[in-house]
Amino acid sequence: MALLLGSKDKKAYKSDLVYVDYHSHVLPGIDDGAENLSMSVQMLEELNKQNVKFVVATSHFSNHREQVDSFLSRREEAYNLILPQIPQGMKILQGAEIRVERGLIENSDITKLCISGTNMILLEMPYEPLKSWITEEIENIGYRYKITPIIAHIDRYYKIYKHEDYEKLFSLGNVIFQINTEAYLSCSTKRFFTSIINGKLPVVFGSDCHNNTNRAPNMDKAMSYISRRMKAEDFEEMIKKTTKYINNQ
Ligand SMILES: [Fe+2]
Repeated sequence: MALLLGSKDKKAYKSDLVYVDYHSHVLPGIDDGAENLSMSVQMLEELNKQNVKFVVATSHFSNHREQVDSFLSRREEAYNLILPQIPQGMKILQGAEIRVERGLIENSDITKLCISGTNMILLEMPYEPLKSWITEEIENIGYRYKITPIIAHIDRYYKIYKHEDYEKLFSLGNVIFQINTEAYLSCSTKRFFTSIINGKLPVVFGSDCHNNTNRAPNMDKAMSYISRRMKAEDFEEMIKKTTKYINNQ
C-alpha cells in the first residue's frame, strides 16, 4: 500500500510502489544519452534510489539511417557492457525510440524493436503539428503487426498542438500514451497532464533521462507531485497497471 502523506508533510512522501521508466537513454555510447559506462551506472543508481526497478532502454532508432539488425547489434554490445553493473533488484528491458516517418510500416523488422518480452513499441512522433499521416502510420503499424504502439512523450508537443490535436490523439485506439516526468515539474504543463491521467487514458511514464545533469532521472519528484493530486488508491492502481503491461504479456 502506498503511503501518501498530506501536503503539510510533502517532503516525507514515501511509497513502496515500484516504478517502470518506459523511456530512457541509459545505454552507454549508443545515442545522445549516456556518454560512457560510468555515466550509465550513475543514472541507473539514481533511478534505483527513486524506486524505479524496471528501466526500458529506448535508444534512438531512425529507419532511414540504419538497418534494424545493425541497431540491434550495437544495442546488444552496449547492454553487455552495462549488464554486470546493473544495481541489484533492477532490470533493464531492451527497447528503442523509433522515429515515425512516412513508410515506416513497410519495414517489418521494426517488430524486433518491441520492448523485450512484450508486444509494445515506443514510437516518437515528429516535432510538428499533428497530421493525418502521422496518426495513420501509428495506427496501421499497430494493426498490421498486432502490436501496441506507445506514443512517446506526448507532453513535448504541448506548445505546437491545438486542443483538437490532443483530442484526435486521445481518440486513437490500441495505443498507450507515454508522458515524460518533466511534464509534472513545469508550471505550464503539470495541470493539463494531470487531467489526462485522471481521465483514465492508458498512460505510462518515462524520465527520458539522457545523463545525470541537465536531463537526469526525475521520477521521484514527478510521482510525488502526481500522488498528491490523486486518491491514493487511484494512484496505486495506475502505477500497478504500468508494471502489469511489462509483466503480463
Ligand atoms: Fe527519448
